[in-house]
Amino acid sequence: MNAAKRKTTYLTTPLYYVNASPHIGHAYANLAADTYARFHRLLGEDVFFLTGTDEHGQKIERSAAAAGMSPQAFADSVVARFQSLWKLLNISHDDYIRTTQPRHVERVQEILRRLHKAGRLIQAAYKGWYCTPDETFWTEGEIGGPTGDPTAVDPQSGKPLCPTCGRPLEPVEEVGWHLKLRDHQEWLKQYLKDNQRFIRPQTRYNEIASLLEQPLPETWCIARPRHRVGWGIEVPFDPGCVVYVWFDALLNYITVPWEIREKEKRTLWPASLHLIGKDILRHHTVYWPVVLRELAGLVPELGYDRDVPLPDMVYAHGLWKVGEQKMSKSLGNVVDPVTLITERLASQPFAADVFRYYVLSEIPFGQDGFFSEEGLQTRLTTDLGNDLGNLVNRTLSMIDRYCGGKIPPSRQEDLDAIGLRGLGDRVRALPESVRAAMEDLQFSLALNAIMQVVTLANQSIEQAAPWQLAKQPEKRAQLEGVLGALACTVRIVGVMLKPFMPAVSDEIRRQLACGDAAPTWEDAAHWEGRNAGATLIRDRAVLFPRPAPAAGQGK
Ligand code: MSP
Repeated sequence: MNAAKRKTTYLTTPLYYVNASPHIGHAYANLAADTYARFHRLLGEDVFFLTGTDEHGQKIERSAAAAGMSPQAFADSVVARFQSLWKLLNISHDDYIRTTQPRHVERVQEILRRLHKAGRLIQAAYKGWYCTPDETFWTEGEIGGPTGDPTAVDPQSGKPLCPTCGRPLEPVEEVGWHLKLRDHQEWLKQYLKDNQRFIRPQTRYNEIASLLEQPLPETWCIARPRHRVGWGIEVPFDPGCVVYVWFDALLNYITVPWEIREKEKRTLWPASLHLIGKDILRHHTVYWPVVLRELAGLVPELGYDRDVPLPDMVYAHGLWKVGEQKMSKSLGNVVDPVTLITERLASQPFAADVFRYYVLSEIPFGQDGFFSEEGLQTRLTTDLGNDLGNLVNRTLSMIDRYCGGKIPPSRQEDLDAIGLRGLGDRVRALPESVRAAMEDLQFSLALNAIMQVVTLANQSIEQAAPWQLAKQPEKRAQLEGVLGALACTVRIVGVMLKPFMPAVSDEIRRQLACGDAAPTWEDAAHWEGRNAGATLIRDRAVLFPRPAPAAGQGK
């Protein structure tokens, strides 16, 4: 028996390590996931959006010790910072999983018991290297820093370097519990061939396809001796071992659906999308599929008596860099999103949305990007202030001035007569352009499509020159037609912005007297909204005020 036809769009983010406060790299994945979740809600889908924190392992154990705290107390304090950032950024997750919660720990232990009972675990010795910051094992053949030079060493310690982050590795030799890995190589290769969109974007698909051309290690560790790492989930049948933090963390993607299905009879698994950074691609596209295959028949609670299906898609985004380096706390080059929003953007009533707009529009999703505060300010002044803010402000002010604040009706078939047919066509095509871009998570293209409409609408204002029409009483119908058409444009732009800039979208639609109901896809598809003939709201905030010039500047 298989699960009933799945209706829920289930998407996940990585679980963030709680060794330090979140930075914009962490905010990025959650913003992208939030936008995706909101977009699919706008489409009318049932969405379940999961995020959370990865709280076990050596790295957190060491950070807690350095802070003179117990690992749990330390994790609690850092989790509070993550959660307040998600609130600040308006992240709309449906659940927040902490890997230290009993609901997760108990299911991880149950999974281990079942794997052990089914004879799928191997007790094996491991000799190789370990990257503590990445909590990842590397074999002798894989070391060599980002350049791939196996002789490269850290100048201070003389230790070889991690192939992904370039930091010094530690030698490890230990006996733990493992799953078979090499045995899975052939089916996984074939799976990739048969499912070309399993890994996106294409560069990441190619990376894993070529990795699978080389033999994988025989096994993958899932539990480590307690004397090496004390902070972790105890292995129920071998208390001398704790669960390897990556195995523990990956399982969150099914421990939550397991719980939800028990409580709500709602089937979430398989995930529609695992959104991750490219530095954790291998864990999600090699080790995780292998874990799921090993779980075949062991977790009927997910809705599958036999094979557990793989997630529909793993999408790996690029990294935010500062200079040539990845932004990371241990490299000391982080940009703190809280400072950015609450201090640098303090003059902005919709600061979080300004930040959301910047990170989503600045780089094509999937590629690396360079954060710059000037870049952020430029986007704010040009795209948001001069284009979007200006369009909304001009349109509404003219409706106030020339129509007493009453939104004039507009019919699409009348647009030809007032020279706005081109604008009407572009607005009508907008939802589909955004949908097409979002199918491959191209947030920047989706925003670009919206901003092109904004630009065209601003040009249309110049061409139609309502202030001239207003001087000629015989052009009254034309004036109202133009302002009505602009009101429709602004409303539809407002609806389409909802996933990207939720607060700005709400404010635009509030000002246009659209009511409080959440916007729907239907609202974007209809030229004239239910607010035609309504009166604009009087107390209207300027969406993107210009920052006051610093003392001594300007006239
Ligand atoms: N705990 C693991 C993930 C377990 S998922 C079951 C982990 N945590 S992390 O905190 O180190 O990273 C979490 C995510 O943040 C990763 O997707 C990573 O790519 C992302 N980022 C961390 N630094 C980043 C940038 N500088 N830029 C963009 N994203 C980056 O890995």
